[in-house]
Amino acid sequence: MPLSRRKAIVSTSSLVGAALLLPDAEARGQGPAATAPTSPPLADLVSVSDFEPLAEQRLSEISRALVKGGAADEITIRWNREAFDQIKLRTRVLVDVSTIDTGLDLLGLRLPFPILLAPTAYHAMIHPGGEAETARGAGKAGALFVVSSATNTRIADIAKTAGGPLWFQLYVQSDRRFVADVVHEVESAGCRALVLTVDAPVVGARYRQMRAKFKLSPGLKLPYMDDVNKGRDSLLRGGNTRMTWADVEWLRSVTKLPVLLKGILDPDDAERAVAAGVDGIIVSNHGGRMLDTAPATISALPAVTERVAGRIPVLVDGGVRRGTDILKARAYGAAAVLVGRPYLHGLAVAGADGVARVVAILRDELEQAMALAGRPTLTAIDRSVIWNAS
Ligand SMILES: Cc1cc2nc3c(=O)[nH]c(=O)nc-3n(C[C@H](O)[C@H](O)[C@H](O)COP(=O)(O)O)c2cc1C
Repeated sequence: MPLSRRKAIVSTSSLVGAALLLPDAEARGQGPAATAPTSPPLADLVSVSDFEPLAEQRLSEISRALVKGGAADEITIRWNREAFDQIKLRTRVLVDVSTIDTGLDLLGLRLPFPILLAPTAYHAMIHPGGEAETARGAGKAGALFVVSSATNTRIADIAKTAGGPLWFQLYVQSDRRFVADVVHEVESAGCRALVLTVDAPVVGARYRQMRAKFKLSPGLKLPYMDDVNKGRDSLLRGGNTRMTWADVEWLRSVTKLPVLLKGILDPDDAERAVAAGVDGIIVSNHGGRMLDTAPATISALPAVTERVAGRIPVLVDGGVRRGTDILKARAYGAAAVLVGRPYLHGLAVAGADGVARVVAILRDELEQAMALAGRPTLTAIDRSVIWNAS
């Protein structure tokens, strides 16, 4: 597959959006930065890491802290990356790699590549177009977008701009009737699966955000965060604190959509999830934003996929920044990966085009890595791709 496709997907001239202000953002510290510097053409941004410094220049102090921040000392964020970097890859030569196929079937969908956009909160703090802009970018790239419960935009408005499939991530609220209504609303809007986040009974120690005095820009809404809207989100009082395996059963009883659990690291929880009849697992430490010093996700992944043994798909997120990371995740049994901060950086730099460009870079890098490792299809990627696989 030629590596030039990214040029076709992303117009290099349309550096739209990021220079705009949120309509009601105050000059100090909220929403996109007041005076956004110009960026180089998107074609000159060759690696997803090229987006981060540009995004940081364009975001306000508060939005920078939102995107960059993790829990406490941010050790898990660092480990997520270091663990990927420490894995060595094995190359096999003289394999015909003239055709690279990254397509896969996932929970009733045919996807062109195993890269999803992870659910992330408050896109209107990053770009005036909010989640609708992200969905447009996902559509341009052909990527599945998992919309967060902490979206600033209602799902019907996101669905209008989405050219590709949507899943919806749920935070369970104290009022279960409210949650059931949300489920029905996202079903009607065409979401194809629900992702229940289970690693956030309380919010992690977000010191970077606290130091920046994080708050939502005035006028921004959180239509699906009933507890926050009703002041029930403080530590140990929100609906998530009481969530147990019984709620997983309850959720399955109110929807026919596939349900995935996001935030599993322990193989015993993975086994329990299979027993509870869920349709998929996302191995995640919430991008290092919940329990600091929880392990890197790529380190936790092998034991989970071994235990699940193919009964349901296992996905992984946390620190994925390279095509080689995706190859490593596949080698350890992940069906697909999700990325969080990289596409938020793309969104900050160039709106939908930036999101699409980030995905296109990762996709091209994956194809390149598969060719160089001598694995032309996703199913040809197994643990033998890892140099010292145990
Ligand atoms: C700014 C930000 C907001 C996030 N909001 C949510 C959220 O609302 N729900 C959720 O399940 N995960 C949320 N996450 C976690 C992501 O879904 C994902 O697990 C993580 O970003 C993956 O790590 P990465 O950023 O290193 O790619 C958020 C992450 C970031 C960076």
